[in-house]
Amino acid sequence: MNIKKLAAERAVESVKDGMVIGLGTGSTAYFAIEKLGQRVQEGLSIVAVATSKRSEEQALGLGITIVPFAQVGKIDITIDGADEVDGQLQLIKGGGGALLREKIVASRSEKMFVIIGEDKLVDTLGKFPLPVEIVPFAYEWTLDALKALQLNPKLRMKEEDYYVTDNGNYIADCYDSSITDPTSLHTRLNNIPGVVENGLFVDLAHTVIVGREDGTIDIITK
Ligand code: 5RP
Repeated sequence: MNIKKLAAERAVESVKDGMVIGLGTGSTAYFAIEKLGQRVQEGLSIVAVATSKRSEEQALGLGITIVPFAQVGKIDITIDGADEVDGQLQLIKGGGGALLREKIVASRSEKMFVIIGEDKLVDTLGKFPLPVEIVPFAYEWTLDALKALQLNPKLRMKEEDYYVTDNGNYIADCYDSSITDPTSLHTRLNNIPGVVENGLFVDLAHTVIVGREDGTIDIITK
């Protein structure tokens, strides 16, 4: 059973003619974009904005129209994956490195549909290392500031080099934290000079669509 595909395709059922859609990033969002492309080829009329270069390329290849941000007042629905989701629908995102663009797009969205397999549901966030996007300038000092918050940051690597985001920044993955107060940690992280954004998505998810191994789907709304 492909539980990511199951959740992704259910989310795309909510897309209607005339909507502006936010396209997420990652292996689950991939299935949503595929399905959306199929529906567009069958006559669905939508436009979209993308949260990464790779999602934009996938969408364009399927005939989905990508519009400039200046032309979009609001996004009707953004469909995106997550690395962890807790019982209050707070999220960790950024495993795929697109957290900044994902958060900008989610913040402009009437509804954010989060599509996950059941393995992503947790009681407390933090088992998945929390990604924090930081500027390359004096990144060592930014890592010091993250350590001072009792986080255990490791710069993400891509082969021998530092991983670089679509925005030209680094990602510090913060290990071994149990995040009992995501709102407070979110604020403390974004107050560090050098931090661009962090992977805690607080009060942004509208609906979480969970694919289960038995073939069922749970839809959790706040
Ligand atoms: C990318 C993300 C992804 O949504 C998240 O990492 C989940 O990825 P996947 O769907 O591949 O499990 O936040 O920045």
